Amino acid sequence: MTTTEWAGAATIVDGPGGYTGVDATPEWAEEVRRLARERNATLLAHNYQLPAIQDIADHVGDSLALSRIAAEAEEDTIVFCGVHFMAETAKILSPDKTVLIPDERAGCSLADSITADQLREWKADHPDAVVVSYVNTTAEVKGLTDICCTSSNAVDVVASIDPDREVLFLPDQFLGAHVKRETGRDNIHIWAGECHVHAGINGDELAAQSRSHPDADLFVHPECGCATSALYLAGEGFVPDDKVKILSTGGMIDAARETGAKQVLVATEVGMLHQLRKAAPGIDFQPVNDRAACPYMKMITPAALLRCLREGADEVHVARDVADRARLSVQRMIAIGNPGSGE
Ligand code: 13P
Ligand code: SF4
Repeated sequence: MTTTEWAGAATIVDGPGGYTGVDATPEWAEEVRRLARERNATLLAHNYQLPAIQDIADHVGDSLALSRIAAEAEEDTIVFCGVHFMAETAKILSPDKTVLIPDERAGCSLADSITADQLREWKADHPDAVVVSYVNTTAEVKGLTDICCTSSNAVDVVASIDPDREVLFLPDQFLGAHVKRETGRDNIHIWAGECHVHAGINGDELAAQSRSHPDADLFVHPECGCATSALYLAGEGFVPDDKVKILSTGGMIDAARETGAKQVLVATEVGMLHQLRKAAPGIDFQPVNDRAACPYMKMITPAALLRCLREGADEVHVARDVADRARLSVQRMIAIGNPGSGE
């Protein structure tokens, strides 16, 4: 450690849930900014990050917006405060940049729900199908994919495919069901994967919450186990149709700025509430499930970010041949559909 470095860094502790031991004080924030400048690094944070990480980032957004920002970043280094597949996607798009993630153990249960070998087998059963993979997949899986998508542009991506071609959609079954419904396609095969955080936000909780808050809007992420139930509630007249909005995390921010509602029930990971409350301070945002916290997203702690910037770790590597195979599918993703949302 040089004499110019902040003494608070000496307290970093490594544990099974990640790095701890550092509070997000103004001194921490000053040191993070100083180290980021020294490395010529830009800090990107997903909407599910801890509030302190969101507040120190240069850009906060959804997966699509952050991928686009990463692709165009001018800095030498991208520090991705999110989970591993997001940092990997940034590396695929910008192979000559240094991409760091504050804790490489920050994985994703959804990305783990399909392997490259499983996809190879699935493709062999449907040799003429177009493969659409959610961005929540490994680089190897992206390398076997025709077009990637995020929750923000999944419907647009599938709608862009010749209606006569079969589609393999993976790995999220709830997002897949949403896309199937929205596009009206019946030649779409859906992998049975799920995100354990979103799958835990179920229809019963949503129904109970909407009954006790009858005037509230419902913002529902399409990865949720309740997404189908949200539409069912609307279809059955339990809640007015225009109150249920199926949205990506970035789409929720845009909708928050536009809604006339005084209260909004939010069905997604709880980190989202921070940006929503900043975007629309006059609205009362309530989580449908206040236990829906992603343990991987929460591994990016103030201690982890400090360690990352001090040590240049953990660096994200994607083998050149894998990145080259995956790049086209990711470039197609960032070219299609709505602008995503990030700033
Ligand atoms: P979006 O930001 O694309 O809505 O993604 C949500 C998510 O679960 C990322 O892991
Ligand atoms: Fe993966 Fe779910 Fe966490 Fe998003 S919330 S990173 S999909 S485990």
